[in-house]
Amino acid sequence: MKRKGSRGRCRSKIVYIVMLCFCVGSLMMLQNQFIQITDPEVVVPPPAVQKPKIAFLFIARNRLPLEMIWDAFFRGEEQGRFSIYVHSRPGFILNEFTTRSPFFYNCQVNNSVQVDWGESSMLAAERILLKNALKDPFNERFVFLSDSCIPLYNFSYTYNYIMSTSTSFVDSFADTKEGRYNPRMHPVIPVHNWRKGSQWAVLIRKHAEVVVADDILFPEFQKHCRRRSLPEFWRDHPIPVDASKEHNCIPDEHYVQTLIAHNDLEGELTRRSVTHSAWDLSSSKDRERRGWHPVMYKLSDATPALIKAIKDIDNINYETEYRREWCTSKGRPAPCFLFARKFTRSAALKLLNASIIAAN
Ligand SMILES: *[C@@H]1O[C@H](CO)[C@@H](O)[C@H](O)[C@H]1NC(C)=O
Ligand SMILES: *[C@@H]1O[C@H](CO)[C@@H](O)[C@H](O)[C@H]1NC(C)=O
Ligand SMILES: *[C@@H]1O[C@H](CO)[C@@H](O)[C@H](O)[C@H]1NC(C)=O
Repeated sequence: MKRKGSRGRCRSKIVYIVMLCFCVGSLMMLQNQFIQITDPEVVVPPPAVQKPKIAFLFIARNRLPLEMIWDAFFRGEEQGRFSIYVHSRPGFILNEFTTRSPFFYNCQVNNSVQVDWGESSMLAAERILLKNALKDPFNERFVFLSDSCIPLYNFSYTYNYIMSTSTSFVDSFADTKEGRYNPRMHPVIPVHNWRKGSQWAVLIRKHAEVVVADDILFPEFQKHCRRRSLPEFWRDHPIPVDASKEHNCIPDEHYVQTLIAHNDLEGELTRRSVTHSAWDLSSSKDRERRGWHPVMYKLSDATPALIKAIKDIDNINYETEYRREWCTSKGRPAPCFLFARKFTRSAALKLLNASIIAAN
């Protein structure tokens, strides 16, 4: 009786399991049918995951003379991993009549200011661009570009390079040159936080937020960093008697660097710029004037050899700091530069046509 009973329970268990399987099976078939009936054609795409974006921030006078180079650069990118913001002078309108590249439609910030080169209005323009770009939560890197900058590589390479580190690319060094730090900035900006570097930086979101939120250093720069006689003008005017009293701060080459030092964030920097500028060291014999003018590459300068030479640079020597920076990306030796300036329209178009920039 006992054995029979246990066998009986066993059998009923088996029956139970078979029935359960049948039930589950038919439920699944029903469900399949249901999906097929309600959705015969539509293939449900996987949930779109928005990738982090790079915000390209163009500081232009009016239109973008190199728009077609950037057009080729952005055209290769189909995953929406970028956004574009353009700051042009107030009154200028960037639309289908003033740009040939649809990538730049609706990219102009509508609250621009008149920028005087070398004045703190340049900082205002940078802050306006950042403020606009921060509204998009997917923007994670913020690249400053001038209207004469070109991309040296394709979008993917540029994207991966910039995203491969969680630091900002900001070249920054203590500026010891007489006359640029205005002692009147003390104590708001102590001299030990005074830094210099290239304006053409790449910021992480955290640092972009620091710049936009800054209401301490920016007013100091506005107050004490006025342009007097810039060395460009020294060609036409006599050199001032006491240059050290002039305080040609060159705000755009000090502000972000000094602000980051002021906030004790220098540990979050890759201390170099990824934008190559060549400084005209030959044309001036005067030490003081030397190095003030970035070279403008014209049509005849724009050769594959020039671009190769820039791409081949893999280290930067910071003479004043006795520091040589070997460029890396993802821990491996890498080219130092992703962008270069300054190029005329014809020079850049020649390079694009020869497929040596932007798309490869
Ligand atoms: C600028 O555009 C924003 C929306 O993008 C709008 O809210 C704002 O009023 C505009 N400002 C001006 C001055 O037109
Ligand atoms: C572009 O390159 C082709 C040859 O590859 C040449 O025939 C053409 O004139 C070039 N156009 C410009 C605008 O340089
Ligand atoms: C992008 O550029 C890199 C570096 O030059 C190259 O290795 C890669 O093949 C390029 N990708 C495409 C899709 O052209």
